[in-house]
Amino acid sequence: MTSFGRQFGVTAVTYDRVRPGYPEALFEMLAQAIPAGGSVLDVGAGTGIATRELLRRGLRVTALEPDGDMARQLIARSAGEVDVVTNDFEHYRGPRRAFDGVVCAQAWHWFAGPSALRRVRRLLSGTGVFAAWWNVGTIADAQLAKELAVIFQETSHRLPVLFRRPDLTATIGNLARLLQADLGFSPPEALHFVSSFTYGPDDFVALMSTMSEVLALSSEDRDHVLDRLRACLGEVTVEVEYLTLGYMAVRC
Ligand SMILES: C[S@@+](CC[C@H](N)C(=O)[O-])C[C@H]1O[C@@H](n2cnc3c(N)ncnc32)[C@H](O)[C@@H]1O
Repeated sequence: MTSFGRQFGVTAVTYDRVRPGYPEALFEMLAQAIPAGGSVLDVGAGTGIATRELLRRGLRVTALEPDGDMARQLIARSAGEVDVVTNDFEHYRGPRRAFDGVVCAQAWHWFAGPSALRRVRRLLSGTGVFAAWWNVGTIADAQLAKELAVIFQETSHRLPVLFRRPDLTATIGNLARLLQADLGFSPPEALHFVSSFTYGPDDFVALMSTMSEVLALSSEDRDHVLDRLRACLGEVTVEVEYLTLGYMAVRC
């Protein structure tokens, strides 16, 4: 059976189109911390939403992505500029101290833990930079959020993370604690950026179709939930307020 974190491929094209990107300021911060033209490993690169931003800033990127469909979409969108490795982080044996940066956008939770951080440290050059971050979204209209949550609860015990903000903030807090433990990193610097995005009803439903909790449903339940969401929204647009949260730390 496909594990929870490895099922995004079936929706790779939609994922690439509707998943929100990350603030410019975050990539500017990374571009300042990583030497110009430096090498970066993008772990769990997906369709390359973060990869493309790193490439745009002149960094050399190795994109590590276990899902073949996601990796194919990444290659299609980044034509020849990026080195793609189709593997998971747990089994990736990259060259020791080869990267000036290791970044992880919206994926650290799939393999988080002290051993993953030790592996990051092994891959980083002397003062290489590690950064992991997530988009933590909240539907601005609380009443609408409640109505939409009820639709998910009809079929799934697990609400998409957009409706479970405390779970994600706990994951991010765990990363901070891990970085503060004595695993060979400088005290972590918090990443905190605010943005918002308004989705038309079709795009909001498309966004929900890319959520791992929805992908895990049977196709019958998934169609039911997505149809109910679409009917509930009618012509209503959905404003999502995003906090992009995470941590950056330097190897020492
Ligand atoms: C939510 S997506 C994030 C993708 C991309 N970084 C982005 O910002 O859009 C999580 C990605 O992590 C990948 N993934 C899941 N388990 C993984 C693992 N053990 N090692 C590396 N990547 C993994 C998934 O295939 C998926 O592409």
